[in-house]
Amino acid sequence: MKAAKIIITIDGYSSCGKSTLARQLAQELDYTYIDTGAMYRAITLYFLRNQTNWTATEEVEEALRNIELEFVVNTRSGNREIHLNGENVEFLIRDLVVAEKVSEVAAIREVRTFAVAQQRKMGEAKGVVMDGRDIGTTVFPQAELKIFMTADNAIRVERRFKELFAKNPNITIEEVKANLEMRDYIDSHREVSPLRKADDAVILDNSDITPEEQLQLALTWARECSGDQ
Ligand code: DC
Repeated sequence: MKAAKIIITIDGYSSCGKSTLARQLAQELDYTYIDTGAMYRAITLYFLRNQTNWTATEEVEEALRNIELEFVVNTRSGNREIHLNGENVEFLIRDLVVAEKVSEVAAIREVRTFAVAQQRKMGEAKGVVMDGRDIGTTVFPQAELKIFMTADNAIRVERRFKELFAKNPNITIEEVKANLEMRDYIDSHREVSPLRKADDAVILDNSDITPEEQLQLALTWARECSGDQ
């Protein structure tokens, strides 16, 4: 019997390795990986570039009408990269300047409505692995497999620092730590769709396991949930 395509959601705090797992899972299962954080980051980049006053609802609504987001496959890497109004911004959105504001922007109701509607459309046909903060709770509460990832704080800071340092050697570990703590706080305390574990999500703590071990664990769950055993 051919396994049914399912929806896999991966939520959790910043820098838990959600995107690494999501990308690998999608590759193994021949599913589409959707990085929803990239959408909030691209919206933030647009607001910063256009000096949108995001505390004013009308300005936000006007700006959103001018934003088109699309994931486009990079033919060299095979990765799906985010394009903002036709421009590939996958690299730019990882900058700390965007990271410092993205949680604020992602807390805006209109921004979430805009992004969630597109995410639901992208997952309509199933066969997707989507990572973010509210995917299992708000975007796809009916998803067949929901994973909630966690890892020790110090390990998360170290991982993010290595990633950012490779691009910007001026960055300090203190800056990275402060940014992670601030984002986790805002993401889990906001009014609209705060980060929380869905009641039926499985917890994956990857502090002491290798990426390969975590992939095998998630693949076992995915196969169970899709009836492929
Ligand atoms: O996963 P990330 O670090 O690229 O996410 C960037 C920010 O976007 C993060 O601080 C929280 C927000 N976000 C969100 O609120 N909901 C999502 N589904 C994904 C990300």
